[in-house]
Amino acid sequence: MIAITGASGHLGKATLEFLLTKTSPESIVAIVRDPQKIAEFADKGVNVRQGDYTDKASFVTSLAGVDTLLLISSAVLGDERVNQHSNAISAAKEAGVKHIFYTSAPNPSPTALFAPAIDHFRTENLILESGLTYTFFRNNLYLDILPMVIGDAAQLGKLYYPAGDGKVSFVLRTDIAEGLANALTSEGHANKVYDIGTPTASSFSDIAASLSSADKTVDYIDIPGSAYEAELVKHLPPVVAKIYAGMAEGIKQNEFNVPSSTLKDLLGREPVSLDTYLKSLS
Ligand SMILES: NC(=O)c1ccc[n+]([C@@H]2O[C@H](COP(=O)([O-])OP(=O)(O)OC[C@H]3O[C@@H](n4cnc5c(N)ncnc54)[C@H](OP(=O)(O)O)[C@@H]3O)[C@@H](O)[C@H]2O)c1
Repeated sequence: MIAITGASGHLGKATLEFLLTKTSPESIVAIVRDPQKIAEFADKGVNVRQGDYTDKASFVTSLAGVDTLLLISSAVLGDERVNQHSNAISAAKEAGVKHIFYTSAPNPSPTALFAPAIDHFRTENLILESGLTYTFFRNNLYLDILPMVIGDAAQLGKLYYPAGDGKVSFVLRTDIAEGLANALTSEGHANKVYDIGTPTASSFSDIAASLSSADKTVDYIDIPGSAYEAELVKHLPPVVAKIYAGMAEGIKQNEFNVPSSTLKDLLGREPVSLDTYLKSLS
């Protein structure tokens, strides 16, 4: 059986939908804090079980009979997140799971500018130490978050962001989900580290060019990181502002510049490109 955590989230639900086109619902376990949230999958015959990352025992129970676990990273950050993942990994070992797929990030490192990549580095190491077979999906930034990052740049004709010439292999969340479902139901992924993104990385100048139309040109204006963070703290808690500012600095230093054809190979087609995605919004 294949189990998915975070099954009530965007990526988890989308992966479940793709999995249902490839395997029987009885062979899928969807783990959620609140089973009511995905009652529609229980109606389709999926085994919906309760599990909370903060409660290891709940995970040991919910992983009974599971061979392969897709551990979708938790939504909190820092030690809290790593402790939650640690619970899930040791529960998997105790429950007899053989293989863990984990949704990581590009260039995980203890010194990453993008703070979540530090958690991913620590979690990947916990999985390696567990001795279980693994597949790391180092998912690049979701295209789906780009509208939040660029705001009303298309209307303003100016895209203000502190990323210099740094590039990102932005990737659509549903493309990742389809790639995960394909990998979860096929062989040859044991002990592999996959950079998951588009085959071409894009800079913020490229984003401005995609936002431009015959009627309106959008210019990219590279602003200082300090000015960006000062603006963010007017609207967000300082800790959150710091993470977004760190993400921008990480982009500038090319932490997300990881073009790769792995997802294309898993999908058997081109992933949705940045340009196609942005044009679909206008
Ligand atoms: N690459 C990127 O650009 C990017 C962007 C954002 C996030 N991420 C990471 O990718 C993950 C998946 O993305 P997403 O868009 O699917 O996020 P999402 O929609 O926020 O889903 C997060 C999932 O984690 C579950 N969860 C949170 N705390 C939990 C706990 N204590 N125990 C069990 N489950 C818990 C949530 O369950 P509930 O429904 O019960 O809350 C939800 O199902 C995120 O959690 C985050 O780590 C990546």
